[in-house]
Amino acid sequence: MTKSLDESLSYFKDKISDCIKSKKSISVTTHIDCDGLTSGSIITKALIRAGANCTVRTSKEFSKNVVESFKTDSRDFHIVTDLGGGFASELDSTLGDNWIVLDHHQIPDKEMDNQNVINAWKYGMDGGVEICAGGMAYLASMSLDEKNSDLSAIAIVSALGDRQDQGERKSFTGKNFEIANTAKEQGLVDIDLDLLLVGRETRPLPDALAFTSQPFIEGLTWNRDACLSLLNSSGIKLKDGGRWRVPAELNEEEKRQVIESISKFTAGKNATEIMSELIGYTYTFPREDNRSFLRDGREFSTMLNSCGRINRSGVGMAICMGDRNKILREGETILTDYRKMIREYMSILSNERWRISESETCIMVNGEDIVPETMTGTISSLIAGSPKNSGKIVILRTKGEENTIKFSSRKSFGCNSDINLSEIMRTGAEKFDGIGGGHNAAAGAKITKDKLDEFLNYLEVNVVNMSSPTSSK
Ligand code: C5P
Ligand code: C5P
Repeated sequence: MTKSLDESLSYFKDKISDCIKSKKSISVTTHIDCDGLTSGSIITKALIRAGANCTVRTSKEFSKNVVESFKTDSRDFHIVTDLGGGFASELDSTLGDNWIVLDHHQIPDKEMDNQNVINAWKYGMDGGVEICAGGMAYLASMSLDEKNSDLSAIAIVSALGDRQDQGERKSFTGKNFEIANTAKEQGLVDIDLDLLLVGRETRPLPDALAFTSQPFIEGLTWNRDACLSLLNSSGIKLKDGGRWRVPAELNEEEKRQVIESISKFTAGKNATEIMSELIGYTYTFPREDNRSFLRDGREFSTMLNSCGRINRSGVGMAICMGDRNKILREGETILTDYRKMIREYMSILSNERWRISESETCIMVNGEDIVPETMTGTISSLIAGSPKNSGKIVILRTKGEENTIKFSSRKSFGCNSDINLSEIMRTGAEKFDGIGGGHNAAAGAKITKDKLDEFLNYLEVNVVNMSSPTSSK
C-alpha cells in the first residue's frame, strides 16, 4: 500500500535516525542542475546538523552504472535526490533497504508502492509545477528537525531553477507556495510584484532589458543599443556616480516611467501580452548583499545551473550550504562564462540553418559538435523560449560521452499538444536500450549512437507526425 506523505517522511526520519545511532555513513547523490544542487545541499545540510556522517556527490544522470558504483562504495546508506526515477528495482537488489530517493520526476506505476521512493507524484502533488526535488528535500529535512525551516529559502531557488513559477504572474502554486510563505514569514525572502528583468541585481539597466527574452520584445530583446536609447528617452537616471544602475535599484516612479516607455514602444504589437508578462513576482533574499547575484532568486538559480553545466558543481553546493567569501567570486566568474557560452551556441545554431528541421508542430535541432552535453537542456529551453517557436515542441540532440547521443525536448509557450514528453522519451529510449524520462513538458533521453536512426524514426512517428498544436486537451 502506498504510504501517505506524512508516513513517508516519518519513515525517512526513522531511517536517518537509525543511521546516526548505528554510526552508518550516508552518501548523497544528486543531479548537476539547479534543482539537483539545491536539493543535495538542503538534505546534506540537514544531515550534518543532525550529526550524521555524510558525503555528497553529483552525477550528470542516473543509470545502471551509477547503481553499480554504489555496490563498491564504502558508504552504508544512499540518498538520491532529483534523480533515480525508474531504478527502484535495481536499487533494491543492489542496496537492499539501504536507500531513499527524494524526487519529483514522473515515475513508472510499479514504483508507486516502493516505500524507499519518496516522490511528489505518489502523494497527489504535481512534480512538474507544485514541488521539485529541492522542495521534497526540504520536507524531508523538516521531518528531521523543524529548525531546518531556514532551508526554505534554498527550496525557493530550486523551484525557480526548474521554472515552477507558473502560476498567475509567475507565482508559485501547491507546496512551493507554502514553502515560499514559510520563508517569507521568517524574513528570509521578500516576494514582490515587480518588473521581471533578467539580472535584477547585477546587470546594467540596458543589458538587463536586452537580455530579457521572456517576454520577447521585437526590436528590444538582444538589441542593447535600442534598449539604451529607449531607457534614455524614458527620462530615468541610468548611471549613479559613474556606475550603471541595475533594475533592482529603480524606485516606483522610475519603474512606471520604464513601463510607460516600453508600452509606447510596443503599441500595436501585442502590447497587452508583453506588458502582462513583464510584471510578475520577484523573490529577493534581503540578507544577501545589494547587487549580489545571490540576492535575486532567479539569478541565484541561473548561477547554480551554470555551475553544474560547466562542471563546477562544488562551487554551487558550497554557496547553497552557506559558504561565502572567496567562493562568491568564483560563482560570479562561472556565471559570466556561462552566459557567454550560451550566446555563442545560440548564435552558431541560428547561423547554421541546415542543422534545424522544422514542421508545423515540431522543431528538431542538431547540436552535435556545437553544444556540449551538459548544456543540452539549457539550450533546448532557450530555443523553446524564442517566440518564433511558440506553440511547437523543440527537440535538441547533442553528443554525449562514450558514443552516446543526448536528446532534450521541451514544449514551448502556447504548445497544447497532448503528447507527454516524459512518456515519449522514456518509452522510446527503453525501446532502443537507452534511458529517458522527465516531465510532461520537459524531458530528455540518452541512446547509443548506433541507435540514432531508429530513434529519430521513432520521434518522427510519435512526435513530429503526431503533435498537432490545435489538438485540445
Ligand atoms: O531536472 P528536471 O530536472 O526536473 O529539470 C527540468 C528542466 O526543464 C529544467 O531545466 C527547467 O528549466 C526545464 N523546464 C522548462 N520548461 C518548463 C518546465 C521545465 O524548460 N515548462
Ligand atoms: O536534460 P534535460 O534538461 O532536457 O531534461 C529534462 C528533464 O528530463 C529533467 O527533469 C531531467 O532530469 C529529465 N531526464 C530524465 N532522464 C533522462 C534525461 C532527462 O529523467 N535520461
